[in-house]
This record gives sequence, structure tokens and C-alpha cells, in this order.
Amino acid sequence: MVSYRTKVAEPIRLPSRVERERALEAAGYNVFNLASADVYVDLLTDSGTGAMSDAQWAALQRGDESYAGSRSFDRLERAVADVMRFPHVVPAHQGRGAENVLYGSIVEDGDVVLNNTHFDTTRAHVTNQGADPVDCPVSGAREPDADGRFKGNFSTDRAREVVSDVGADVVSTVVLTITNNSAAGQPVSVQNTREVAQFAREIDATFVIDACRFAENAYFVKRDEPGFEDASIADIAREQLGYADAIVMSGKKDGLVNVGGFVATDDESLFDRCKHRAILYEGFPTYGGMAGRDMEALAVGVREAVTESYISGRIDQVRQLGESLAEAGVPVYEPFGGHAVYLDAASLLPHISHESFPGQALVCELYLEGAVRGVELGSFAFPDTDRPELVRLAVPRRTYGAEHFDHVVEAATAVMDRRESVSGLTLASEPPIPELRHFTAELEPVRASAPSTE
Ligand code: F0G
Repeated sequence: MVSYRTKVAEPIRLPSRVERERALEAAGYNVFNLASADVYVDLLTDSGTGAMSDAQWAALQRGDESYAGSRSFDRLERAVADVMRFPHVVPAHQGRGAENVLYGSIVEDGDVVLNNTHFDTTRAHVTNQGADPVDCPVSGAREPDADGRFKGNFSTDRAREVVSDVGADVVSTVVLTITNNSAAGQPVSVQNTREVAQFAREIDATFVIDACRFAENAYFVKRDEPGFEDASIADIAREQLGYADAIVMSGKKDGLVNVGGFVATDDESLFDRCKHRAILYEGFPTYGGMAGRDMEALAVGVREAVTESYISGRIDQVRQLGESLAEAGVPVYEPFGGHAVYLDAASLLPHISHESFPGQALVCELYLEGAVRGVELGSFAFPDTDRPELVRLAVPRRTYGAEHFDHVVEAATAVMDRRESVSGLTLASEPPIPELRHFTAELEPVRASAPSTE
């Protein structure tokens, strides 16, 4: 059920086929290089792309822009304490700013950091500290058709193997990313969270939750985890986050704002260290990287995120998109995650080898077919890993409706129908850091080789 109606309309336009072909060629077959005006339904990310509520827009007006002791900071602090259980907050400009503040305070050269799956920016911050990021997903997490309800869980068995290899002393930090963005947005159970907290305690590591999509995760717990059927989303979120020593948050997801983030903790000494690092990289601790007005909007957003009407409509929308695609015969990752539907490009385009980037080929075809923008999360984005060839269609919050999704399904079906004619891609230019190549690299279609004249 939809729990809002539209008050502000932003015009969008479907460019013609010829315009789309030209735009894609000019973008070097990389949809990050497209102008948003050339996109009709933009499913590149759910990060900072959602619509704020009228209450959030109203709260903006109350922004207290004082350098120190801002009332807006107090309101954010209270909202985080009420919704997420942590009394101390260090605001940052967005999630990765908060990661810099937190991981820069607790991770040292030579450490090992364990995570159910490191998101790209998390991995980069851990590496930047001179530490080694190690993923501990459960089996099946990377299999698009493996059964299972909480495929985002952290494998403590895998983590114990790592500890027995490297020694407990070097494992300074254990992170649980909820939902697990790099594993198709799959949720993490509360039971698993308890086990991870216990494991972190045993090895004397700091237990961090990356809470970007904490409300979406709580919804899955209520729906699928025995014992939580009658609990409220708000209570589940408070319980799950409360097991951590600290949380790191991008407000651009379940904070329901366009920019902002924070670190929150109940550990006085950690709070102190984070505050000092924030002054260096973000700003004075009562605003960090945010304007007073943005803290106001975030304070309202985190409260809205845990209302049942909002979150159930949100997850339903993603599920309906996934089901419509599956019904049309498009191979999709199941079960559906919280913020996105992931297409299985290797099954859809089996004739394209990993070296020719089937996921990126699919991203380009969806754009050519319907000016739909998704993102590749396979061999193009992650060189030298054995990840599945997924394409993520991330759904911005409170932004698109059924007709937009019908259009997406039509575009995907049209690509399916002519899948044999889709060719792979080859790199035309590559940036110096391979891990970041999908943002800026340029590609070109692999042309069928000319028939031999001999
Ligand atoms: N952690 C997770 C799990 C994320 O998904 C993201 C961002 C971040 C941290 C960093 O937050 O963007 O505010 O700096 N994910 C976006 C995405 C970019 O498209 O999945 P940020």
C-alpha cells in the first residue's frame, strides 16, 4: 500500500531511440557518464535520490546554522538516541565521511577487518588504514537462485577460520552491513547479529554495524524471523543496532535525505576519538559535515523510516518490480533484497563471456531500449573477483510509481526477446585505480570479426 501522494512534480522525458544511441556512444558505453536529462527511469542508486516528506521540508526551515551548540544537532542527537539507541552522534557529510571518521579512529596498519561483505567505500577506507578487509558471507550469498531467508548473514564459521589463521590480536574490527548491499541487498537476522556481537566480544574486537539500510533490514526480520512477527519495526531496529559498539550511517538511504551521515556510539572513549578526527576531516562535532537544516531533515527522516506504513510500502514496491520481471522471464536474484532488484546477466546473456562484461552489456541495452539506468556489479565493477554477473536496479525511495516500473519491465522484456543479437563490450580506456574503474572507464562494443576472405 502506498503511504504518500505527490506534491511536487519533476518533469522527466523519454529521449528518442536515436538520442539514446548517441548519448550512450558519447558516454563511452558507461552509464555513469550520462546526463540525467538523458535518463527516463533512473535506477542507478537508491542513495540520496529519494523524495523528502513535507515534514522534512518544513523542518529544513528550522535549521540552526550556529557553528557550535546548534539546536538542530540536539534534535538529530535525540532522534538517533530514540530510533537507534546511541546517545553520542558525530555528523558527517555522507556515509563515506562517517566511515573515514570511524575506521580512521579504530583501524590500524596491519589489522584485519571482518565484514559480512565490505561495501566498496568501506573496503577502500579499511585498505587506506593499511588494514586487510576480509569478507565473511554465508554460503549461497553469491548464488542468485540459492534458497534462504537471511542470505546477508555474517558467517562466524568463516570468521573463526580467519582468526585461527591470523590470530585474534590483529582482528580489531568486526562489521555487519545491514542490509548486505554487496550481496544483493539481502537482510541479516537478529539472531545472526547476536552471534556476531558475541564473536566480536570473544576476540575483543570493536563491533560496528553499517546501518545504511537498517529500517529495510528490520522489515525483513519482522516478516521472516521467527519470534519477531508481533514486534514493531522500531523495536526491532533498536534491538538489532543496540548489539553494536558503534554504527556508521549514510543518511542518504534509510535517513531519507539527499545528503548526510553520522557515526553513533555509546562508548565515551570512542566518541572522543571520533570527535577529534571529525574536526580534522568533517567539521566541528555539532555539525560535522552537515548544514543545520540538513540535520533537521535527517532527524525527521530516521523517525519516518521506521514507521510501518512507510517501510512496508517501500519493500512492497521493490518486491513488485522483482516479481513482474520474474513473471516476464527475466532472470533475477532471489529472494529480492530491500533496496533493489538484481538481474542475473550471466543467465540472460549466456553467449557473452566474463571478459566481455555481460552485466555492462545488459546495462547498455536497458538504456538503449527504454532510457532505464541501472548499474553493473559484476566483472566490470569488480575485476579479478569471482562475483556473479549482476545488474542492480536500485529503487529510489518515494520517487517512482507503477507506470515507471511497467516501463522498466517492458524494456527488460524487449532486451530478453532479442538477447542473441546483444554483443559484449571491451575496454577503450581505463583509469589508474582498477577498483574504481566502473565509475569512469570507457568501453566499446565488441564487433563481430569480418569474415575471412581467404
Ligand atoms: N555503506 C554502504 C553499505 C553503502 O551502500 C554505501 C553507499 C556507503 C556505505 C557509503 O555511503 O554513499 O553516503 O558515502 N552506497 C551507495 C550505493 C553509493 O549506490 O549503493 P555514502
